[in-house]
Amino acid sequence: MRECVIVDGVRTPNGRAHKEKGWFRNKRPDELLTAVYDALFARNSQVKPEDVEAVFIGCANQVGMQNDIGRLAWLAGGYPESVPANTICQQCPSGMSAIEHAARAIMCGEGDIYIAGGVEDMQHVPIGAGLEFPPRVLQRYNPEELPMGPTAEKVAELWKVSSEDMLQMAYYSHKRAAAARDAGKFKNEIVPIEGEKEDGTKFMVDRDQWIRDNVSIEAMAQMKSPFKEGGVITAALSSPLTTGACALLLMSREKADELGFEYHLKYKAGVMAGCDPTIMGVGPIYAVRKLLERTGLTIDDIDVVEINEAFASQSLVCLRELGIEQNAPFKKTNLWGGALALGHPLGESGARIVITLNNIMKTDMPEAKYGLATLCGGFGNANATLWERVK
Ligand SMILES: CC(C)(COP(=O)(O)OP(=O)(O)OC[C@H]1O[C@@H](n2cnc3c(N)ncnc32)[C@H](O)[C@@H]1OP(=O)(O)O)[C@@H](O)C(=O)NCCC(=O)NCCS
Repeated sequence: MRECVIVDGVRTPNGRAHKEKGWFRNKRPDELLTAVYDALFARNSQVKPEDVEAVFIGCANQVGMQNDIGRLAWLAGGYPESVPANTICQQCPSGMSAIEHAARAIMCGEGDIYIAGGVEDMQHVPIGAGLEFPPRVLQRYNPEELPMGPTAEKVAELWKVSSEDMLQMAYYSHKRAAAARDAGKFKNEIVPIEGEKEDGTKFMVDRDQWIRDNVSIEAMAQMKSPFKEGGVITAALSSPLTTGACALLLMSREKADELGFEYHLKYKAGVMAGCDPTIMGVGPIYAVRKLLERTGLTIDDIDVVEINEAFASQSLVCLRELGIEQNAPFKKTNLWGGALALGHPLGESGARIVITLNNIMKTDMPEAKYGLATLCGGFGNANATLWERVK
């Protein structure tokens, strides 16, 4: 089996998905995706677009502007028709699934150079757009328990997660994200893109829109749940509606060496796991347990963790059940903030957390051997990937 290494990874800043306030409200998602393709080739000139074996792009809602967006953004960018693209849907883990497809293709020798990433514009293509549930699914499950917010409420209730602990998690997510941004840690992954302020002034967006500099536990504690009467999951404890795109350049280790690339992580393993869709947020528990079992590692072998904070309740429960951390501020998890602060463009985040993990392990944790990235997804899909330092 060959080895797959991360040569590079870039992302757009995450914008608020809002038709009046979003910095990217007048951009199409294909434009954002083409911008990250462009950045990858500009930064890695040894690779020509025609050398890419295939492109895998995750996108959770493939309707309207996002229909077959991996391919259409490639063509829209003027890239060679000879390079195919596969747009993958696995709800929130779509971007991670894209990476897994590319890594496995490299490892089994189908090709040497792949692009894998994700995109979601939750303003132009809202969550659940065009979805018609199969009636038999609605008979099997309580339809009121299937949307994402109610699943987060159910997890908070079943696992008795306190509002205090969730507020603390949200607080540190924003604090860590702001600190990372201010220290320039995202510079290596963010591609500045022109956007618009609320008043219409154009500017180069080089930072994530949702990070709150004045985050306050007291203010967040006043907010009400939009999902359930008397519920606990507020907007502050939910990943906000977001627009963004990202892509990684993945390569066989031989090809990366031949082209003279620097890299430090290889794909060690990846798994998908399924769980009850009405508590979809706990999916990473099953995915990570499976991953550890298959690799013969224990949770203590993992040095750095990126878990997508879809909601505070589910990510906290996963961290606790897996024995990773109990409460924020975390020691090895989401060190540059999580989706509560950075945002969560559904099909993008699974790839974005791998890019961030790669950068954290490069700059802040140079001694770390194993990094884990994991996330839950709508209807009970979850993924986990394990990355091992090779240099
Ligand atoms: C929770 C949710 C319904 C809220 O959406 P919304 O009603 O459009 O609300 P917004 O996110 O715009 O926030 C509402 C207000 O609360 C404010 N707010 C949000 N988080 C806050 C915080 N941490 N502190 C203070 N104010 C906050 C917002 O800024 C906004 O006010 P503004 O317009 O003056 O800026 C939405 O974010 C959501 O559905 N999130 C989950 C998405 C999801 O399911 N993803 C998949 C996961 S698997």
